Amino acid sequence: MFDHFAFVAPIYDKIIRFLNIEKLKQLLELPIDGRLLDAGGGTGRVSSQLKPWVDGVVVSDLSRSMLKQAGNKRDLLPVQAHAEKLPFADESFERVLVVDALHHFCDQEQALADLLRVLKPGGKLVIEEPDINQFIVKILIAVEKLLLLRSRFLSPEQIADIMKAKGFSARIESDGGIISWITVGKEL
Ligand SMILES: C[S@@+](CC[C@H](N)C(=O)[O-])C[C@H]1O[C@@H](n2cnc3c(N)ncnc32)[C@H](O)[C@@H]1O
Repeated sequence: MFDHFAFVAPIYDKIIRFLNIEKLKQLLELPIDGRLLDAGGGTGRVSSQLKPWVDGVVVSDLSRSMLKQAGNKRDLLPVQAHAEKLPFADESFERVLVVDALHHFCDQEQALADLLRVLKPGGKLVIEEPDINQFIVKILIAVEKLLLLRSRFLSPEQIADIMKAKGFSARIESDGGIISWITVGKEL
């Protein structure tokens, strides 16, 4: 499959700067004794910042080029995998994170199901996505279409509804701008 991210991988961390690490720490309830899976984690741009607050970080992604960058960062374990078919046992991770990647996944329902599968009871799944309710995000969607990215954006409410249909309740938060977070806690 054609890898759009191969071209930008070497400069990705330089051009994509947005990161609200304090918010992610709060939503993920860090620090914890346990491992974090950063699914669609690319270069590890985000999870490399969360490393001090967890025991270990696995970055899974489809793109070899993005993962090569993740492998250059200390203490990140890169794993090439579809988010829809993660090569991990059930209940492997205390925390699971997806930043700016859900809209790239081919089968989002299947990916969400698999992310929940690998999450331990008592664990948290946090998804960060651009909020398509915001006008500026509609422009971003048009740009991604022009770049022939096969993105499919869901609203925070649609993501929460998918979770609900799977028996999980989700909390939606927004930064008041273009970013939304959907958080799911897996009961013990
Ligand atoms: C916009 S980047 C975000 C990377 C990282 N989460 C960040 O915020 O820096 C989206 C990533 O999703 C990955 N991706 C796309 N489809 C995927 C899939 N089906 N399974 C796993 N990763 C996928 C891409 O290779 C890319 O690295």
